[in-house]
Amino acid sequence: MSQGADEPDSSMESGFNRVQRILDDMGDSLDVGEVPMEILNNDAVYEEELDRIFGQTWVYIGHESEVPEPGDYRQRTIGEDPFIFVRDEDGEFRVLFNSCRHRGANVCRAEKGNTSHFRCPYHGWTYDNSGDLVGVPQKSAGFDHLDADDHGLHQAPHVDDYKGLVFACIAPEAPPLEEHLGGATWFLDMYFDLIDMEVIGDPHRWEVENDWKTPTENFYGDNYHIPMGHKSAIEAGVGSDTATGEKESELYGIADCDGHAFSFYQIESDEPSYWGHPPEVVETFNHDALTEEQHEVARKSGVTLGTMFPNLSFIFLGGRDDPEKESVGTFLLRKWEPRGAGKMEVVNWVFAPKHASDEYKERVYEVGMSSFSPAGNFEVDDVGIWYGIDDAAGSVFARKNDVHTKFTMGSGDNAAATVVDDWVGPGTAYREGGMTDENQLDFYRTWYETMTDNGGM
Ligand code: FES
Ligand SMILES: [Fe+2]
Repeated sequence: MSQGADEPDSSMESGFNRVQRILDDMGDSLDVGEVPMEILNNDAVYEEELDRIFGQTWVYIGHESEVPEPGDYRQRTIGEDPFIFVRDEDGEFRVLFNSCRHRGANVCRAEKGNTSHFRCPYHGWTYDNSGDLVGVPQKSAGFDHLDADDHGLHQAPHVDDYKGLVFACIAPEAPPLEEHLGGATWFLDMYFDLIDMEVIGDPHRWEVENDWKTPTENFYGDNYHIPMGHKSAIEAGVGSDTATGEKESELYGIADCDGHAFSFYQIESDEPSYWGHPPEVVETFNHDALTEEQHEVARKSGVTLGTMFPNLSFIFLGGRDDPEKESVGTFLLRKWEPRGAGKMEVVNWVFAPKHASDEYKERVYEVGMSSFSPAGNFEVDDVGIWYGIDDAAGSVFARKNDVHTKFTMGSGDNAAATVVDDWVGPGTAYREGGMTDENQLDFYRTWYETMTDNGGM
C-alpha cells in the first residue's frame, strides 16, 4: 500500500523531526502506559540522548576506594566523552577532560594507575594531577606568551560524592547532587552508611548489542520477569534464597522516588538477613548509622536492586554460586554506558564489606561473577532476551507500523497493585510481587522529562 500524499513518509524524515515526532508520541503514550518501540536502537534518538541526558544530568564516575591515594586515576566516560577520574595531591576528586589543550590528544592512555603528571604523547604538554598546565616543550622558543593558568585541562564543572560514590555533571548549571539523588539517598545510606564498602578488583567491562535503556528499564525493578526469564538458574539452585522461594518473603517495588526506583525482598524471620551476609560480617557493620526504620528494612532484606537515573543500577544479591555452599552478600554496581544506537558497554563493579576477611571477599567476587558477568547465570538469561527487543525496536516494521510496548500491569482496567500504606521510606511502595509497571514507567517518564527539558536543546 502506498503512503497517502499528506502522510509524511517516516523513512524520509530528518533526524530532528524524527526525534520530535517520537517524543510527541512518547508523551501521549505514557499516559496510557505505552512506550513507542522506536525510542530504542534509533540513531536519531541516541544522538539527542547524549546531549539532553548524559550532557545534562549527574552521571556516576566511580567509588572513592578505586582511587585511595593522591595521584590514583581511572579512565571513565560520561556518555561517550573521555574523562580521567583522579584524586589530586590534596586528596580532591577531579574529573578531567582527557584531551590536551594544545591539539586535543588524549593525555592519559592507560586505563588506571598512579601519577603526579599527565604528559601528552603528541607534543609533550604536561599537566599535574589537578589538571594545571605545568610544562610546555620549548616554551621560550615557541610559546613565550602562553598563559599556563588559562590552559589547564578542561574539567567537569560539577563533581561531588555521596557516601563515597563520585558523580559528575558536565552541564554549566546543575542542581546539588543530593537533590538529584532525592529519595535514593535513603537507600544508599542503608548500604553505604551501614557497611564500609570497597570495590574488589577492577570493574569488569564488556560490550553488548543493546540499547542502554533496555537493561536500565529492567533494573528499575522488572520483577515480573524473574520466574520466567530466570527459571533455569533458579531451578539449578543458584542465586538468592529469596528468589528461589526458599525463605518466606515479601517483594516490594518502590516507585515515585524522584526518578529513581528500587525493589527488594523482606524476609519474615527472626533471623536477621542483611542481604545474606553471615553474622561475623554483620558484626562489622555500623548499626548506629541508620534510623530505626532503615535498620529494620536492612535487617530483613533479601535480594535488592535499583537504578538511579540515568544509567546506574545495582543488585545486592544474597546468593551463592553452588547449591552446596553458604550464600554471601554480593553488591554489584553496574553502569550501562551508551556506545551507539543499540549498543552499550556494561561496567560492573563488585563491592564487599571492607572489614570482612580476604577469604570472604573472594567468595563475594566469585558469586558476583557467577551470577552477573559476561558469563553469569542470570546475565546470560537477560541479555539473550534483550537482544531480541532491540532488534525488533530498530526494525523498519516497528517504525512503519507504530509499534508500542505495554506497561499497564497493575493499572487501568487491570487489578490495581497493592500500595503499602505503612511503608517507612521514600516513594510509593507496592506489595505482592511488585505486580506493577510503575517502576518501569518512572524510568520512561524521567527519560521523557529530561529529553523534553529545553536545557538540552
Ligand atoms: S596535542 Fe598535546 S601537546 Fe600537542
Ligand atoms: Fe533479569
